[in-house]
Amino acid sequence: MNFYELAKSRYSVRKFKPEHVSQEELDIILKAGHVAPTGCNFQAFRVLVINSDEGAKKLPLCTDSHFHAPTALLVCYHKKECWYRKKYDGAPCGVLDATIVGTHLMLQAHEIGVGSTWVMSFDPEALRREYQIPEELEPTVLLVMGYPAEDAAPAPQHDTFRPLEELVSYETF
Ligand SMILES: Cc1cc2nc3c(=O)[nH]c(=O)nc-3n(C[C@H](O)[C@H](O)[C@H](O)COP(=O)(O)O)c2cc1C
Repeated sequence: MNFYELAKSRYSVRKFKPEHVSQEELDIILKAGHVAPTGCNFQAFRVLVINSDEGAKKLPLCTDSHFHAPTALLVCYHKKECWYRKKYDGAPCGVLDATIVGTHLMLQAHEIGVGSTWVMSFDPEALRREYQIPEELEPTVLLVMGYPAEDAAPAPQHDTFRPLEELVSYETF
């Protein structure tokens, strides 16, 4: 599978088998996140692995988009460690860092047959409370994941894309 085929065949899996993702496969997924590029190479991210019955049971307290997933990865950025665009407007790079890490995790998971849905609709305070997330970490990317159920299928709009010409401009907008 080339990269385009990998990216195109991924879809948001919202129905999972009950088994947790194996440690061996988690290691492969986490390794792909490890090599993600980050602003100034500060690597100001932390990944929380939720892969126990007890951990997974708390997901519904934090998000409606849990889909009864047996496993989840939460990528946080470190507010003090991340690069800031101080020279210009001071914007933090942390959300971008976490997003790139999350993308690596999601695509690597897909490549080895682990499905996921990227979830932004979560309550950050609930995540902090349930998983003891320290103040300096900002929960940014929640990937609920697991082995796709036999009847898991893409949402109907999954293959609907706006025309590329509408989204890409050359030289000026
Ligand atoms: C940044 C981001 C946030 C998302 N948040 C949610 C969410 O909170 N709940 C959910 O069910 N899906 C969420 N999704 C999944 C999108 O709905 C999904 O990726 C989109 O509809 C395209 O479908 P596909 O992933 O099957 O291609 C999110 C996706 C992204 C990239």
